[in-house]
Amino acid sequence: MNANNFSGKEINPLQSIEDWEDDVVLRYPEADQPAKSKEEFRNYESPVRDTVREFYRLNHKYQTYDFVQEKKKDFLQFSRKEMPVWKAMEFLNTLVDDSDPDIELDQLQHLLQTAEAIRADGHPDWFVLTGFLHDMGKVLCLFGEPQWAVVGDTFPVGCSFSDKIVYPEFFADNPDSKDERYNTKYGVYEPNCGLNNVDLSWGHDEYLYQIMKDYLPEPALYMIRYHSFYAQHREHSYEHLMNDHDREMFEWVKKFNPYDLYSKSPKPPVISELKPYYEALIAKYLPETIRL
Ligand SMILES: [Fe+2]
Ligand SMILES: [Fe+2]
Repeated sequence: MNANNFSGKEINPLQSIEDWEDDVVLRYPEADQPAKSKEEFRNYESPVRDTVREFYRLNHKYQTYDFVQEKKKDFLQFSRKEMPVWKAMEFLNTLVDDSDPDIELDQLQHLLQTAEAIRADGHPDWFVLTGFLHDMGKVLCLFGEPQWAVVGDTFPVGCSFSDKIVYPEFFADNPDSKDERYNTKYGVYEPNCGLNNVDLSWGHDEYLYQIMKDYLPEPALYMIRYHSFYAQHREHSYEHLMNDHDREMFEWVKKFNPYDLYSKSPKPPVISELKPYYEALIAKYLPETIRL
């Protein structure tokens, strides 16, 4: 048991936190790939698939409205570390798990591949920087946080859970689904109140957004904050909480998503060649050190 009072098995159900993102790619294959039907997707069996299922079971059970408030109160003090952004990336890269190092890209490689794919398409430099930064919040794992409180599809808490969220049946074990303050369509929110007034399940998206919110253009902040919110940017199931400004900004979230999901290539980027360009981008937009 640790400070969170979860057992080791409950903290790390996945061999690698990348197993979640790999599973999202199976769920949302690239446009030119044959799409699996919902049944095919759900029935697809493999040992990794079982751990991903268990991961979602824990995620849906424990991500309650109160859990999110607690995590925000703790982590948004940013009292754990202070370091330059590139150092924070190297820190993130110390996250090694049980996956096969021969086939698995490390965190920095995924971030550089995402950013380089954005750069190759001629997008503005802040968009490239966003690709580079977007998963930096996964340092939460290095602070002992359970995998399901770092990665995984995000969704609003404090109102009813959409059945468009992956594995919706697991929400039956979430106490909020029996709590009448939280289990109605709007719950604690007002119709079309805007996502800025809505709490999403806790993870690397919100955490990094809070670190970056004073420094990057608004579209970049939306991409960071909502890139795992598949129930909205792919399934459109929370329109009733969004305002017109959210809808406009979600065009950027949608634009970002394919770079995140489909830029993985087995050829690892040469970090030493790319470092000067990214160091210059960091210096252009971000302070000398950030607090985690
Ligand atoms: Fe992510
Ligand atoms: Fe990512």
